[in-house]
Amino acid sequence: MNNEELIMAAREARKTAYAPYSHFQVGAALLTDTGRVYCGCNIENAAYGPSNCAERTAFFKAVSEGERSFRKIAVVGGREGTEADALCAPCGICRQVMQEFCDPEKFKIILTDGRGKIRELSLGELLPYGFGAENLSR
Ligand code: THU
Repeated sequence: MNNEELIMAAREARKTAYAPYSHFQVGAALLTDTGRVYCGCNIENAAYGPSNCAERTAFFKAVSEGERSFRKIAVVGGREGTEADALCAPCGICRQVMQEFCDPEKFKIILTDGRGKIRELSLGELLPYGFGAENLSR
């Protein structure tokens, strides 16, 4: 699975976003070390707090299916009814969820807009000095 295919999967996932409050629709496609892809969209809630981002939806689907090793995630987000017109980077909570399961140097986040711009970053670049399980085992 190459980056283009993963981006296409994220674009498809964005179509299922449930975002009646922000009208900002996000899709994510998460690639495991074994080559499987788990997709996610943002899922909002009238009480706002229970809302879930696309990235976490993809991670929680994968982890709940027994997956523990991940290679990369593609993310695309933008206002409803538009192609994404800017890059959409994961929020802090999603970065922390990635930190739980991914190697900060190896795991890659692929950001893309609807105009063909692509930026690939490591988790370590997005979350430097991240807090993880090793901090608790010292
Ligand atoms: N959102 C995501 O799903 N992923 C991101 O990377 C940024 C924000 C969602 C949360 C909320 O449903 C909407 O976008 C507006 O913040």
